[in-house]
Amino acid sequence: MPIAATPLDRLPSWEVVCAHGTVLSGRTLAQLAQEPGRTQGLTFEALGLLLDLTKERVTPETLTLLVGLAREAGLEERIAAMFAGEHINVTEDRAAFHAALRAPLGTRMATGGRDVVPDVHAELGRMAVFAHEVRTGAWAGVTARPLRNVVNIGIGGSHLGPEMAATALGAYAQHGITSRFVSNVDPADLRAALRGLDPAETLVIVVSKTFSTLETMANARAARDWLTAALGDEAVARHMVAVSTHEERVHAFGIDPERMFGFWDWVGGRYSMDSAVGLALMVAIGPEAFGELLAGFHEVDEHLRTTPLEHNLPVLLGLIGVWNRSVLGHPTLAVLPYSAELARFPAYLQQLEMESNGKRVLLDGTPVRWPTAPVLWGEPGTNGQHSFHQLLHQGTDIVPAEFVGFTQPIEDPRGHHDLLLANMLAQAQALAFGREAQTLRAAGVPEPQIPHRVCEGDRPSLTLLVDGPLTPRALGRLVALYEHRVLTEGVLWGIDSFDQWGVELGKELAGELADDLTAHAAPQLEHDEATNALVRRIRAARGRAV
Ligand code: F6P
Repeated sequence: MPIAATPLDRLPSWEVVCAHGTVLSGRTLAQLAQEPGRTQGLTFEALGLLLDLTKERVTPETLTLLVGLAREAGLEERIAAMFAGEHINVTEDRAAFHAALRAPLGTRMATGGRDVVPDVHAELGRMAVFAHEVRTGAWAGVTARPLRNVVNIGIGGSHLGPEMAATALGAYAQHGITSRFVSNVDPADLRAALRGLDPAETLVIVVSKTFSTLETMANARAARDWLTAALGDEAVARHMVAVSTHEERVHAFGIDPERMFGFWDWVGGRYSMDSAVGLALMVAIGPEAFGELLAGFHEVDEHLRTTPLEHNLPVLLGLIGVWNRSVLGHPTLAVLPYSAELARFPAYLQQLEMESNGKRVLLDGTPVRWPTAPVLWGEPGTNGQHSFHQLLHQGTDIVPAEFVGFTQPIEDPRGHHDLLLANMLAQAQALAFGREAQTLRAAGVPEPQIPHRVCEGDRPSLTLLVDGPLTPRALGRLVALYEHRVLTEGVLWGIDSFDQWGVELGKELAGELADDLTAHAAPQLEHDEATNALVRRIRAARGRAV
């Protein structure tokens, strides 16, 4: 079935939703909070995840309208199409079949007529054997010493997911195994990652779907030189493995395809952390914990597939995204995990949301007529409170915030976790309800200070409270929740959430500019005048002819 979409502003409910947005813009969150039944009507729970929408500028009626809009946009059909392996990535003519990466053995998920679940599990099995061997020292380096350091070289989806997850699940990592992540072509990145490591104890995993990404290949060559300089050419066979979809290029690089872990073109880079792209994570936390992570993903997949839109957590999250961005017009979104372990979660979500939904044309190539993805940013709490939260509370822009917290700590001998959660709840309260001049006056605040100290409030946020501590399973649930949120938004916006053509132009231009910067003789420069001037200045500074 061809994937087609009616533009958002031609859906029957769109005008009603916009009119409703205008009405709610005239009401404060403090007023809305007085409405009876708000907590019950705007709190949703499944799989140990509680989604509290009470401090968003919505009412239960808003959600009913948005769900209606989603139905008109064909969200249910698109979810079904995704699970059926249809080519919902229209511009690349591919399935977006990441849900198959976590389908249990014995279930059937077919795309192009092929059930891919056995392939997925065969690869997971190979990964598990290898991870086990590295962890036990059965897979040793050329000097027979066990490999204690894992250096993951990759960028974008081949970096952010594994790095975020390894940071999040550090408490579950095997004692004595160090994981480091390199992405930037800036030599400082690799240098920092290799600092203090003994090549004889180091495993390098080169992760690249295409095995042609400039940054990754430059770093992979440098890491290979670092290994072979210390251990000889035979080091590559024991100390380097690859994760890719491109066997030929892996082979040409010098890594035996036997030591390549594969995935498939139906896995987008930013949707790949639960494929072989997560190998470094599996080595760190072990195949069993990795299996728990996959189980968490799968639970949310099933929830998405089988739960009516009205109670469907990722769908509701996506609808709030569309509401805040396209109806209320808020240009950015702050994601604030109250968990130091989730330090890299906002960076991970940046790629997920912005590379997926930062699009300006509809599936048919015509321009969109509404704002699409917000600029997503964030930092863990409480750190952000002492830097940018000032702007959240009193700045001139309204920034919807998403708080993510866990009811239990992983470890907390001194009772800090309550302080952490108290701060999270306090921030949501302060953003929504602020502090009035009257209250400040009553507390004796001098009059000239009053305008500076008033917090107007009325700033929306949501809270995602996860039951228990951050576990591999909880992380899987959380990531799948955001993956499917992005899908939901993309369907309503009418865009292709699974391509990323916008990144190509910069890559091409960088290739030309690299030639111009490094040419032996002064090149004939054909860029804009200012860029030509910068190229000449850099060439001169680097002692090259201009
Ligand atoms: O440049 C963007 C991008 O293509 C991302 O979508 C991808 O995650 C990243 O580069 C890395 O690509 P690869 O895994 O092929 O090296």
